Amino acid sequence: MELAGKAAVVTGGAAGIGLALATALVEKGCSVMIADVEADEAEKAAASLREKGGTVEAAACDVRDYDAVMALADAAWSSFGRVDLVFANAGVMSGSSVIDYRPEHMDWIIDVNIKGVWNTVSIFGRRFRDAGQEAAICMTASEHAIGVPHLGGGIYTATKHAVLGMADVMRQELPENITVSLVFPGITQSKLYDSERNSPTGPTAEKAKEIGARVMAKGMDALVLARRTVEGVANGDFMIMTHPHIVGYAEKRWREISAAIAAVPPFDDPEQYDVARVQKEVLGG
Ligand SMILES: NC(=O)c1ccc[n+]([C@@H]2O[C@H](COP(=O)([O-])OP(=O)(O)OC[C@H]3O[C@@H](n4cnc5c(N)ncnc54)[C@H](O)[C@@H]3O)[C@@H](O)[C@H]2O)c1
Repeated sequence: MELAGKAAVVTGGAAGIGLALATALVEKGCSVMIADVEADEAEKAAASLREKGGTVEAAACDVRDYDAVMALADAAWSSFGRVDLVFANAGVMSGSSVIDYRPEHMDWIIDVNIKGVWNTVSIFGRRFRDAGQEAAICMTASEHAIGVPHLGGGIYTATKHAVLGMADVMRQELPENITVSLVFPGITQSKLYDSERNSPTGPTAEKAKEIGARVMAKGMDALVLARRTVEGVANGDFMIMTHPHIVGYAEKRWREISAAIAAVPPFDDPEQYDVARVQKEVLGG
């Protein structure tokens, strides 16, 4: 996709990776709508990019709320007359071991990281499909979607696997004129360590915040990640990688899968239970 002159919407665009995506899109000549649950921060972010010459709007939007995402789409089409790209980027994290995860955080993280992503890709995706236009959908997953274990982040890791699963099926369901991309960041400088500021229980405990801030300060510059992501989206790449160390973890996972499959007793017809084949047999054709 030639990006100059296109219009994009970025959820969770007021900070971190989302703000960097908005910046990288402006650098490529796109108009951008920054959507965020933190309305004041979204407005500040948009104003800072307008100062650099970008056409940038801000919108208050909690991605958990289907109607709010509908209103975001209406606002974007009415501001720019078109939308060509959507970045379902808003995401949150809160840590503790899987069995100790706080019930109050369970609905919140699932609602933002899975339902919020679905609200966004579903509402924008249907509009793209109905318009028959060239368009790009990009979702922010994580290295934790493909085998990098995140001790203390098991539920977050589960939500990022869900995003990968959703995207993998969606790309095969959509017409060819709509591309689906996924970015898999490793540690990247952002405010993710303080996500709980938007949670039902309020701000992250000071100690956890301090450690999180120190870890994330060692992360990749978000703009480096965002420029690579925007290039990948323009190329129509499905998987966009930014942190090369992931390969060792992904290979380890594949070795485990492969060894487990090799341990299955042999079948006369190994494809017998392939769901694609079974469906074809049932439906005919
Ligand atoms: N930073 C990393 O190391 C890293 C690594 C892998 C994946 N990610 C993913 O990157 C994405 C962006 O996170 P980030 O690291 O930039 O964190 P961040 O906290 O800096 O930015 C997230 C933004 O999303 C907004 N947000 C939170 N809840 C929202 C909601 N309900 N509706 C709309 N906006 C909401 C926040 O206000 C914030 O502006 C997330 O999906 C995160 O899971 C980050």
